[in-house]
Amino acid sequence: MAVNMKGKSLVSINDLTLEEIYQIFDVSKTLKEKKLTGESHKILDGKTLGMIFAKPSTRTRISFETGIYQLGGIGMYFGPNDLQLGKSENIHDTAKVLSRYLDGIMIRTFAHKDVVDLAHYSSIPVINGLTDLLHPCQVLTDLFTILEKRRTFSGLKFAYLGDGNNMAHSLLHGCSKVGLDLAISTPSGYKPNEQIVKNAMKNAKYMGSKVEIIDDPVEAVKNADIVYTDVWASMGQESEASERRNHFMNYQVNSDLVKNAKEDYLFMHCLPAHRGDEVTDEVADSLNSIIFDEAENRLHVQKAVMALVM
Ligand code: CP
Ligand code: NVA
Repeated sequence: MAVNMKGKSLVSINDLTLEEIYQIFDVSKTLKEKKLTGESHKILDGKTLGMIFAKPSTRTRISFETGIYQLGGIGMYFGPNDLQLGKSENIHDTAKVLSRYLDGIMIRTFAHKDVVDLAHYSSIPVINGLTDLLHPCQVLTDLFTILEKRRTFSGLKFAYLGDGNNMAHSLLHGCSKVGLDLAISTPSGYKPNEQIVKNAMKNAKYMGSKVEIIDDPVEAVKNADIVYTDVWASMGQESEASERRNHFMNYQVNSDLVKNAKEDYLFMHCLPAHRGDEVTDEVADSLNSIIFDEAENRLHVQKAVMALVM
């Protein structure tokens, strides 16, 4: 039976029930089919999505904006200098005012608490388009893409290599929620948030799956069905890039490392990729790589999220 998600914000995938997650996957599949067959699906006719970006974006911006148009609504982009927010107006007042004009808000910003507060004070749904802590739209898309390719999560091993960052955190939430075995391997000093790891282990226990934090990247990738990585220096950490490169080099996803994964492993990356750092061209452009299918699915999955919550 359909779960009513109207009015619900998406701040973290951890806030969603398993039923809600699978409903998003079902609607994503339907909307993807309609897009491919050219069948009209203007289910958000006349609705307006405000899109607030404090950081740059290619995929999130374009997939949300084109997505809301395809659903019959319109998207309004606000860049870092467009709103009074953060300058002469606080989050509370911004949330109250935007709720009088818009039907939904998508926000990409630095502090996670700003998105939590915006969702708290808004009477319209708020969708997290990435914070320093989490990236829920990406992990929903990643899981949907794995289901498309492999039909199931059960019995699969997902290996994440690199920084214990927003992607690592959302993958901890997402994989453990759906019962996908996850191995995370990061250099010491770059481990994921302990609370999020603990919570993921609790979720995994409930689902009968595993979450492992493994120091050795070779061990983490051993027999993996999915190998995933992300940039070593995230947006806002650009000045640390060269120092980080020294610490992360053993975690590079290259041809040698992926020999330890299953032969038909899938290579995934949220993109943008810093080729030559966290992943080599050889892996990113190999037949195992599904990075562009993954990027495309941002569109279909976010349309599903908007259709359900707006
Ligand atoms: N993966 C992702 O969110 O990409 P953008 O930063 O280009 O939006
Ligand atoms: N960890 C990266 C993800 C980009 C989609 C960042 O925050 O920059």
